[in-house]
Amino acid sequence: MNDQGDNRISNNTQQASLGEVCEKRFSRRGFVKTSVAIGVGGAVAQLVGCGSDEVQNVAEQDNHWRENNPYKMRYSFKEVEHGGDEHHHVAPDHEAKILIRWGDPLFNDSPEFDPNNQSAEAQLKQFGYNNDYVGYLPLKPKSGQQARALLCVNHEYPIPGLMFPNFPADGYQNISAEQVKITQASVGNTIVEVGLEDGEWSVDTRSKYNRRISALDTEIKITGPAAGHHRMKTSTDRRGRLVIGTMNNCAGGMTPWGTYLTCEENFNGHFSGDIAKNHPEADNHKRYNVPTDYTNWGAHDKRFDIGAEPNEPNRFGWVVEIDPLDPKSTPKKRTALGRFKHEGGECIVAPSGQLVVYMGDDQRFEYLYKFVSRDKVNTEHPKANRDLLDHGTLYVAKFYDEGYLEWLPLVHENGPLEAVFESQADILIEARRAADVLGATPMDRPEDVVPNQHNGKVYVMLTNNSKREEPNNANPRAENYFGHIIEINELDNDFASERGYWDVLVKCGNPKIPNHQSEWNPETSENGWFASPDNGVIDPDGRLWVSSDQGGKAFMSGTNDGLWGLETDGPLRGTGKMFFRVPNGGELCGPAFSDDGESLFVAVQHPGDGYKPGKVRVETATTQWPDFQEGMPPRPSIVAIRKKAGGKVG
Ligand code: FEO
Ligand code: CA
Repeated sequence: MNDQGDNRISNNTQQASLGEVCEKRFSRRGFVKTSVAIGVGGAVAQLVGCGSDEVQNVAEQDNHWRENNPYKMRYSFKEVEHGGDEHHHVAPDHEAKILIRWGDPLFNDSPEFDPNNQSAEAQLKQFGYNNDYVGYLPLKPKSGQQARALLCVNHEYPIPGLMFPNFPADGYQNISAEQVKITQASVGNTIVEVGLEDGEWSVDTRSKYNRRISALDTEIKITGPAAGHHRMKTSTDRRGRLVIGTMNNCAGGMTPWGTYLTCEENFNGHFSGDIAKNHPEADNHKRYNVPTDYTNWGAHDKRFDIGAEPNEPNRFGWVVEIDPLDPKSTPKKRTALGRFKHEGGECIVAPSGQLVVYMGDDQRFEYLYKFVSRDKVNTEHPKANRDLLDHGTLYVAKFYDEGYLEWLPLVHENGPLEAVFESQADILIEARRAADVLGATPMDRPEDVVPNQHNGKVYVMLTNNSKREEPNNANPRAENYFGHIIEINELDNDFASERGYWDVLVKCGNPKIPNHQSEWNPETSENGWFASPDNGVIDPDGRLWVSSDQGGKAFMSGTNDGLWGLETDGPLRGTGKMFFRVPNGGELCGPAFSDDGESLFVAVQHPGDGYKPGKVRVETATTQWPDFQEGMPPRPSIVAIRKKAGGKVG
């Protein structure tokens, strides 16, 4: 249950009062002239108590602006139509080419992909499965190249039924030991060098930077306040400082010093077994849905059996930092950023020079977090930021119906937490329970959280929550099947602030179906609305792009997942436009722009999946994309997109 009815600010008198927050909120609203074009009811409702006369004035100003200015979208591409088939579709004035597929060689000595003769050894030299986040790290072009970069790619989770031809229909009980190893090798990360020549991107298999990180065999250091804690120790790591592998790498972020954050999400799915009800970890595991036993790894690898290793789950659910420029470096699990089902970790530098990392915990009724580093980012010496992520404050968000929010520090000295938790390490290991204690606001599945340095705002993708019974203004619909996007303005445009205010940018769903209760700018075309926002990215011109993940429920919207441009400012605020559509069963992840904005990389995850995700088999896949070859499973792939006439994408 949430406590949205409680509007009091209980402490921290150094912070702005409600009146001051409202005042700043209005002055900004008047300045940018936004928001009243859409969702008038919602916007006004959130402002009750802040002075409704002001709202009227702003509305009049906006109407005046609208009457005197033609609508001009910031996205000039030709729109893709809603729909669904076995193929991908990109805006017709753009070109989309498959760059790299699951199983493609990463090294000169990598074996070619053979779906009928897979091995863990081969998979460790090939591009992994279910590509999700994509980070773009520009490198100096070689002679003859127009551009060169490292792509930092997450491989989120395996789908044995879509990976192995003739996989048993009765689920994963009979998965073989070798298949467990292959699936462990197929997840984690890929670092791969790509180059642009004659307008076409390709993979460089000779690059010294190419690397696979997996759940099977990559050593990862545990750093920060929870490193070495007794709850992080196992029979094979008696110091609690070294873990094998990362998994469920969903979204992520790139730091200003050129490292790559990869975020561990639904790790619970790989644990099986049982512990006693009075085991010290029992409540912790229950709060994180451990075990869920999706792939039955525990049958062949005892560390995923919580009966054998009750602390092993405490070593997953973290943000991992990888240095893509040093292929021999040991990745680090940064425990200061808390343990939960991390969607992403988008970074931005606050005016003070501190780093701020925005993070969602993707489960129904979970929370929105941010981390603020103790130290300033050193912009001159990237290596000086080596341990920046080990020191700082983790906050969780509490939304108030009046349109403001507080960031509550998850620190041991914070009265109520000291009474419940023994140490800061305990708070970080059980960030969810610590957030419960502070009364954070349970949200409708927070996914990507995207700060925009161009307008100072932060966009929170809330994908859906069909189980919500009691709405509040920040989660405004019961049985929220289609999700919504919240826009946060941190107080004084300071990303490190402990106060902010917020608005609902769009309520997703079909504007033509009244019981969806969606809210879009009326200028949105019949293809411009979407459902279940998931990943977001800000392009080099400051425009927001949003991808969707309907989780097999495309039939509810009538369109496969895809990527949309979404106006955030001016009279067209809240207008969407469809840019890319994925093939049947797929989800669109990891949109990443090149630094010049002329290329866009998207990750098509789980093509061929079905209504009940994970139940489909190679033989019944809903598409054979991208190969369309007899016997070849559908392959998750990265697609590189360029504008046909050249210039910036979109
Ligand atoms: Fe892995 Fe929240 O999507
Ligand atoms: Ca996601």
